[in-house]
Amino acid sequence: MTGPRKSAVTGWPVTHSRSPLIHGYWLKKHGLEGSYDRCGVEPEAAEAFYRSLPEHGLVGCNVTVPHKETAAKACVHLDDAAKAMGAANTLWLNDAGELCGANTDGLGFLGNLDQQHPGWDNRHDEAIVLGAGGAARAIVWALLERKFSYVRIFNRTFEKAQIIADEFGAGSIAHPWDELGSYLGKADLLVNTTALGMSGKDPLQIDLANLPRKALVTDIVYVPLETDLLRAARERGNPTVDGLGMLLHQAAPGFEKWFGVLPEVDDELRALVVKDLGVQA
Ligand code: ATR
Repeated sequence: MTGPRKSAVTGWPVTHSRSPLIHGYWLKKHGLEGSYDRCGVEPEAAEAFYRSLPEHGLVGCNVTVPHKETAAKACVHLDDAAKAMGAANTLWLNDAGELCGANTDGLGFLGNLDQQHPGWDNRHDEAIVLGAGGAARAIVWALLERKFSYVRIFNRTFEKAQIIADEFGAGSIAHPWDELGSYLGKADLLVNTTALGMSGKDPLQIDLANLPRKALVTDIVYVPLETDLLRAARERGNPTVDGLGMLLHQAAPGFEKWFGVLPEVDDELRALVVKDLGVQA
């Protein structure tokens, strides 16, 4: 392919994705000529689309809901995270023109905590993960990579937590939601991966009374930036990290694959996305 390199966020729908803003910022910052757009791909067309990225003028792409599993199936090579999750969110072509896929959601989660709260994983005995969707799967993977001894998954639908625990094996344990109170007392980290607490959704109602004050609390919801969970945790003295950085950090590896520069998640980028989301910083 000749001309400036092009990438895009693909999914169905992709209208609300902030990825063009993030990659557009990095392209400008590094003075690169490439472009990054939105590209809606209907579900029936998804697999064929990912198998023929160059025909669509793309050197790679991001993949969002509902195509992450289809994208992984279309790949010739997957990184360890995408293999473990059976889902890819970042695609590129290697020198032989073969389709490669990575799942950077877990790395984005880790990158955010590393940047916002360095040393957060010095204590890595027990983590509690609320929820058992795609984001939970990525975060359980990430926490096991960081050698947490126990990653306890609590979900409204217990069976979904059990499926993730069975997949990841030793260290990941599924629990019914109503057992949460008995396990909070030992947690070093509490992560909300459910949609609860997001603007327009039901609140997340949990009693933090048993949670040790040194436990780090984080949420993948970033609208609002400080969720009720994070506010309640902060007010009782727990360290907290909001979820916006996960969105920013998960984008960086793809940018490097497509445009050849590993970009930084800096304050200016964060401020730009905060402004676009219309959330209170
Ligand atoms: P994602 O892929 O972004 O993680 P998802 O797969 O839709 O999104 O998962 C959403 C998570 O939020 C699930 O764990 C879901 O619980 P169920 O598995 O029981 O559906 C959780 N969730 C959503 N609404 C909820 C609610 N009202 N009460 C409790 N949990 C809820």
